[in-house]
Amino acid sequence: MFSGSPDPVSADLAVAVRLLQAGELVAFPTETVYGLGADAADPDAVARIFAAKGRPADHPLIVHLPDATYMEQWARDIPASAWKLAAAFWPGPLTLILARAPAVPYAVTGGQETVGVRVPAHPLAQALLRAYAQAGGGRGGLCGIAAPSANRFGRISPTDAAHVHEELGDAVALVLDGGACEVGIESTILDLSRRDKPPRLLRPGHITPEQIGEIIGEIIGESPELPDGMKAANVPRVSGSLDGHYAPRTAMRLVASDGLIQAIEETLAEKKRCGLLLRGPLTPPPVHLLRRLPNAPAGYARALYAALRELDQAGNDLILVEAVPTSPDWSAVADRLRRAARGAGTLPCNRG
Ligand code: TXA
Ligand code: MG
Repeated sequence: MFSGSPDPVSADLAVAVRLLQAGELVAFPTETVYGLGADAADPDAVARIFAAKGRPADHPLIVHLPDATYMEQWARDIPASAWKLAAAFWPGPLTLILARAPAVPYAVTGGQETVGVRVPAHPLAQALLRAYAQAGGGRGGLCGIAAPSANRFGRISPTDAAHVHEELGDAVALVLDGGACEVGIESTILDLSRRDKPPRLLRPGHITPEQIGEIIGEIIGESPELPDGMKAANVPRVSGSLDGHYAPRTAMRLVASDGLIQAIEETLAEKKRCGLLLRGPLTPPPVHLLRRLPNAPAGYARALYAALRELDQAGNDLILVEAVPTSPDWSAVADRLRRAARGAGTLPCNRG
């Protein structure tokens, strides 16, 4: 860049900070997926997130922080394990559920006494949060950006800026473009809010229970099947744990590798347009659209949502997905595929 010419990124950041401070919505990249951000201390701004997403107001949002020291603005009774995990994994794709500090609006917590916090690692998210902090943060001097994934409720999370425009159109004042997301699926969520009870995994992600266990010296159980448990009043609500989340509009089925050829042939025999998402070396009969993802969890996760979105938009009648292994390293991907298949084809087009 020539010296003296304006730096487009800082110009965008300055605009983003002004919009956030004015209570508007700004979408921004994180290393996991794009977030739909608003001043977490401003209940009216937070209400705009729910309206834009079409998300029920009792679903809590994650508050994104510039660094771990800001936890004290948003949480109280922070356990030693939270500081240890923050030191080990932040900035990064781990969300901690903690007891809510008194100043945190219930609009952010979905009416609960807990709050979800994380420090994202994407350089543009970091730059935005730092610029926001330098400008005095949001309402009452609190500095946190509430941001769910920037998709319509229940739909596939966006992993690049174009996806955000597709999902939200004019409902968002500004989309900061940071390219494609590295991780590609949402953060791991760990609940540390229950006094005298062990931490528990609410959503599997790139950071595994084993990695968490190594830092805090405790064994973390695999993600519970929350939909039933969630009916208990004392269990925090995690919308990503609902059946039928992350879902395409097209019907979708998970099929074991050795049953795929038969499933494809049956679909084609019914004169259906078949979309296919593979990871292995299988050579299938010709289908309407084939996407093949890397056959390893990190690479698969990175490309998954973009591939599902393409398959969803290609006019298929059915998307067949080659099932992934049941080993722990695949569990976050397996969780997203299972929920996507359950929700597929069930959402009306105008809801998301
Ligand atoms: O990777 C991510 O976490 C992305 C990026 C943008 O940071 N965000 C994201 O947000 O996935 P969202 O809202 O789509 O999913 C966050 C999940 C929701 O399922 C929500 O219910 C849960 O976090 N959550 C937030 N606060 C919570 C709380 N206090 N208790 C339990 N669950 C909470
Ligand atoms: Mg989401």
